[in-house]
Amino acid sequence: MTKIAVLTSGGDSQGMNSAIRSVVRTGLSNGYEMVGIKRGFKGLITGDVIPLGTKEVSDILYRGGTFLQSARSEEFKTKEGQEKALKTINEHAIDYVVVIGGDGSYKGAQALKKLGVKTYGLPGTIDNDIPLTDYTIGFDTTLNVVTDAIGNLRDTMSSHERVSVIEAMGRNCGDIALQAGIASGVDAILIPEIEPDLEKIAKELKEGFERGKSHSIVVVAEGAGKASDISEQLASLSGLDTRPTVLGHIQRGGTPSAFDRVFTSRLGHRVIELVQADTHGVAIGMEQNTITHHTFEEIFNSQNTIDDKLYKIFHDLV
Ligand code: F6P
Repeated sequence: MTKIAVLTSGGDSQGMNSAIRSVVRTGLSNGYEMVGIKRGFKGLITGDVIPLGTKEVSDILYRGGTFLQSARSEEFKTKEGQEKALKTINEHAIDYVVVIGGDGSYKGAQALKKLGVKTYGLPGTIDNDIPLTDYTIGFDTTLNVVTDAIGNLRDTMSSHERVSVIEAMGRNCGDIALQAGIASGVDAILIPEIEPDLEKIAKELKEGFERGKSHSIVVVAEGAGKASDISEQLASLSGLDTRPTVLGHIQRGGTPSAFDRVFTSRLGHRVIELVQADTHGVAIGMEQNTITHHTFEEIFNSQNTIDDKLYKIFHDLV
């Protein structure tokens, strides 16, 4: 019987569980044997393979994190590590490996592909930084978490007439900061894709308070700087009372949004359709509400760019 393995790798994201469930249940419905690999590529090296039936993936749809657990494996980056992983794949007679993770995990999937393994990638990262997909798994949920957090900070900043400088995750991508900023109607957004003008921001914040504003919110993508530094610089440029907040890993938790659950259900279902067609070596995503797939090479040769229109929308709405 054809055997399909699923693993989650790199930083976890809300919706990974739902993606696993979709791959496993669609696979089982179509007569495939399903297994899970614990702790990503690490488990592939150590042979940590578990059988997955319908029951193993029940009650996980609405849970954040990944019940298969995740890791970033340095050993897998070596030739020896990859050979050990290949040994596990052969010993367990695994025909296809589904890798749910971000760009580093896609590189791992491609390394397996080069060793002759039939692989798939699903975009599991909150960062929304994978090319050729409009969304990544967990991005929408994270936006909601960040938007809620900004709302909480707004309350206390308003009471004390302060400026809140909030650091959002996203690695080198500003999407979380930009979209949570739009959703929250913040005063300024700093993202790595666009050089910030702190003097201009400080001037505008000061003018806002002079007009009678009770507080201001600035969102900084982690790739654009540290909240503590930006907060200090804005305080000295404007004379305003500023407070930095690093949202940190709270952004990776919480129950996945309805969007992320439906999105991942669609992605997982497509994996099995591709298995049936014996099309592999591809990453699956969504473009313009259509589930699409591209080879790993196409993904690596494409650039992830900020949505200029969204950035303009933000500025026109401030
Ligand atoms: O890639 C997801 C992410 O949460 C990034 O936004 C962040 O820079 C990084 O992972 C944090 O990694 P770790 O969980 O290893 O601290």
